[in-house]
Amino acid sequence: MTTTATALKSHPVFNDSKAEAFAGRLLGALNNSALVLMTSIGHRTGLFDHLAEISPCTSGALAAEAGLAERYVREWLAVMVTSAVVDYEAATKTYHLPAEHAAFLTRASPSNMAVTSQFLGVTAGVEDEIIARFQDGKGLHYHHYGRFHDVMAEESNQNFSGALVQHVLPLVDGLIARLESGIDVVDVGCGGGGALLILAERFPKSRFLGVDRCADAFATAQDLARSKAFSNLTFRELDLSGLATLGSYDLVLAFDAVHDQKDPQGMLELVYRSLKKNGVFLMVDIGGSSHLEKNIDNPLGAFLYMMSCMHCTPISLGQDGAGLGTMWGVELANEMLGRAGFSDVQMSRLPHDIVNAYFVARP
Ligand SMILES: C[S@@+](CC[C@H](N)C(=O)[O-])C[C@H]1O[C@@H](n2cnc3c(N)ncnc32)[C@H](O)[C@@H]1O
Repeated sequence: MTTTATALKSHPVFNDSKAEAFAGRLLGALNNSALVLMTSIGHRTGLFDHLAEISPCTSGALAAEAGLAERYVREWLAVMVTSAVVDYEAATKTYHLPAEHAAFLTRASPSNMAVTSQFLGVTAGVEDEIIARFQDGKGLHYHHYGRFHDVMAEESNQNFSGALVQHVLPLVDGLIARLESGIDVVDVGCGGGGALLILAERFPKSRFLGVDRCADAFATAQDLARSKAFSNLTFRELDLSGLATLGSYDLVLAFDAVHDQKDPQGMLELVYRSLKKNGVFLMVDIGGSSHLEKNIDNPLGAFLYMMSCMHCTPISLGQDGAGLGTMWGVELANEMLGRAGFSDVQMSRLPHDIVNAYFVARP
């Protein structure tokens, strides 16, 4: 125990067993943080995918399969073994990734949590800048975050791939039929544009526009749309803050793109002004509560507040914005939709998605 802890121990209400339990929890947190960082590396290098395919195997065989340096692969495997992710047989020096673990760590799986683990490296990369922002209260910009757009796109593509047409669109009565007959759709803050690629292919009679202030976010999707000759999908680099209108749309989409805006209230009002009379706004955003005490039991509470502190809040503050934060909460979201003019707002949760709430809002 450190001197500080020994000094604190003389506190009259110091509870030894509570302190021991807490120290144990922190040790676990250190190990878990190591696992998350190494999980990101396992994903990016393809190690999980190769291991799932060829295990049980030696570190040499895995390194050869993945085309990587054995010494690094062996060290990575040691983290996975000591984290009880990979089984190890000492006699043969072989490693095995159980199928039940591969189900959450490989690209073959629709529930690959290794994708999300990449946000740790993305946010840790701005640690020095964030410490400076704690002092001056200012914000950061997308260019500070290196791979943010790539990771966000990968995360969204995973969430959308199966669910968009099957679970999300049916939240709006009759929407699939309208999309099939041909309507005008805009996705605000479209990022990597993965949702639009799915929609443009599935609904060739509808016209889709993706807008985002970062052209690099949608560059790959734009190339893909061109190479697949999707004449019904276009992207435009556009700063949504301060615009009078986007035009006249049947459907406006916003996927996790309202809370970190410079002016989220202004954006909701812009959406309202850009809808036709019978148009609909489908907004997917973080489904936490506006009240901290109600987020304590959120299974991803600490992670989402970390993302808020390290990314969503500074991104908004960096544009002299409101800095609502990731956990602006469904209470405030409903209130702000009402203030923007939406009189009919329905909020749903979907079983496949523990993070987001789904809002269907009509003028
Ligand atoms: C959290 S990302 C979500 C991206 C995408 N909708 C998805 O689900 O993957 C938020 C997006 O909003 C965009 N954005 C932020 N402020 C914006 C602004 N003022 N105008 C246009 N786009 C903005 C960012 O560039 C980013 O791509």
